[in-house]
Amino acid sequence: MKAWQRGFLYVLALNAARCCATSLGEELADSIFGNFLEPLSDLRNRGDDSNQTVARFSLRKPSHPDDDLCYLVPGRADTLAACTFNHTSKTFLVIHGWRLSGMFESWVSKLVLALYERERAANVVVVDWLTSAQNHYVVAARKTKMVGQEIARFIDWIEESTNAPAENIHLIGYSLGAHVAGFAGSHTTSKVGRITGLDPAGPDFEGMHAHRRLSPDDAHFVDVLHTFTRGSPGLSIGIQQPVGHVDIYPNGGSFQPGCNLRSALEKIANFGIFAITDAVKCEHERSIHLFIDSLLNEREAAKAYRCGSSDTFNRGMCLSCRKSRCNTVGYNISKVRKARNVQMYTKTRAAMPFRVYHYQLKIHFSSKVNRSEMEPSLTVSLYGTNGEAENLELKLKEKIVANTTHSFLLVTEKDVGDLLMLRFKWEETNRWSSSSMLKMLSSWWGGGADGADVQVHRIRVRAGETQQKTVFCVKNPDAQNLMHEVTFVRCKGAWRTSGKRSETLQRC
Ligand SMILES: *[C@@H]1O[C@H](CO)[C@@H](O)[C@H](O)[C@H]1NC(C)=O
Ligand SMILES: *[C@@H]1O[C@H](CO)[C@@H](O)[C@H](O)[C@H]1NC(C)=O
Ligand SMILES: *[C@@H]1O[C@H](CO)[C@@H](O)[C@H](O)[C@H]1NC(C)=O
Ligand SMILES: *[C@@H]1O[C@H](CO)[C@@H](O)[C@H](O)[C@H]1NC(C)=O
Ligand SMILES: *[C@@H]1O[C@H](CO)[C@@H](O)[C@H](O)[C@H]1NC(C)=O
Repeated sequence: MKAWQRGFLYVLALNAARCCATSLGEELADSIFGNFLEPLSDLRNRGDDSNQTVARFSLRKPSHPDDDLCYLVPGRADTLAACTFNHTSKTFLVIHGWRLSGMFESWVSKLVLALYERERAANVVVVDWLTSAQNHYVVAARKTKMVGQEIARFIDWIEESTNAPAENIHLIGYSLGAHVAGFAGSHTTSKVGRITGLDPAGPDFEGMHAHRRLSPDDAHFVDVLHTFTRGSPGLSIGIQQPVGHVDIYPNGGSFQPGCNLRSALEKIANFGIFAITDAVKCEHERSIHLFIDSLLNEREAAKAYRCGSSDTFNRGMCLSCRKSRCNTVGYNISKVRKARNVQMYTKTRAAMPFRVYHYQLKIHFSSKVNRSEMEPSLTVSLYGTNGEAENLELKLKEKIVANTTHSFLLVTEKDVGDLLMLRFKWEETNRWSSSSMLKMLSSWWGGGADGADVQVHRIRVRAGETQQKTVFCVKNPDAQNLMHEVTFVRCKGAWRTSGKRSETLQRC
């Protein structure tokens, strides 16, 4: 980056910090890529390197995950023996992305180790295409096809010389490397088993024909994790459109927990402008760490759920696992090969293990009076057989309307076990402090004495991870001191379905 560009970014960061922190990430992403996407005048002066070797294949060892000690050279069968390539086990090809520094990033060895941790006998090959990847972004993006073709020749050679089926080959590509994997897959003689795209790069690939980017045609199964899809299409660092058989968007595909802008700004304050790339990198690279997590913490695998949109998911409406609507995030994903571009969502923690527990809460607010202005802050505490998770915020996606059922998504980091009890809390936001509001509050849970009150009789809960459905009833419907917090326990009886009082429950 040139000095003036650094200065520009710095000014931008300061201004953005002053104005509105949420748009900072977007502006940064746009401006960083904006700079790299500028047409370059020296593109043509780089010479024709079409006859050069553009990729090298290092078979790493679990004992030296960091070191390139042995290269497999297509055409030289002796290198297979020298590197102790195991003909009968799985082969992983790890493909890095765009690298300005010309060095491997630290995640490479972490991923290598995690792969060996899970598949001890595997061949983990790190593809080194750094010489092409360290170009200007546009140049590096253009070279992905050529690099992919070279990897395809390597795969064909492996298949010929070891009789190992291409089905045993799993390509794992990050960022631009995901598209390299796509080109590799589409140029092999027989289809490879799987390609995992870790936040495939967006600029120059978004909206392109399937032949010019990673697509479900490139392997028997293509799974994709999207973690940084913020910004306008084409400038988003990660590709926004689904490009695999199954595309998972953790946390909606952006705003990964733990990658917050405050910490990015603190880093900039402490370490200078170079730290700015950390903010971008954190979300982009989260895809890799989610995948590493799935290799290392098999028993704590996160689940993702098929959903039409992130917004619908955030209302808790997509936690069903029927008809393969849910799947496992990362390595142990179920290969639903008939599917294509299935979009799935999940929430995560800020660090490994990333798995959280998802719940849908369906709450019916009944009231005799139509209040149009209800926007309370709602919190709920869950108590289960394994413990509790207290004061979790229920995010309101719209105003609460009388006599309607609202659906919420709730997540916990802790496994509380089977739910036994809920505590539900209502707090008015401070913009109404009038006495009429206090009156309303006091009558909120009152239970019928005051005709103007709003009531919640029951809360229906679906747990995504266990698929358990439970109905909760107010523990003590007659108590009058329920102004702010109400306890719900599992309903004992069934619902009356006949008569006028269909919404009324039997004894709890
Ligand atoms: C490419 O390299 C091979 C072997 O090094 C050489 O024989 C061939 O002429 C080269 N082709 C071009 C177009 O430079
Ligand atoms: C090769 O891999 C197979 C499993 O795929 C394993 O049983 C065997 O022990 C491995 N051979 C060596 C030499 O590690
Ligand atoms: C991972 O997947 C394999 C095969 O699909 C399955 O046998 C195994 O039980 C799965 N692991 C877990 C922890 O679910
Ligand atoms: C809500 O439903 C109850 C019972 O059906 C009815 O009495 C009440 O008027 C309704 N409230 C509104 C605002 O429509
Ligand atoms: C309640 O109020 C909302 C918003 O003011 C309005 O759209 C709706 O029609 C009203 N419903 C009834 C039953 O009056």
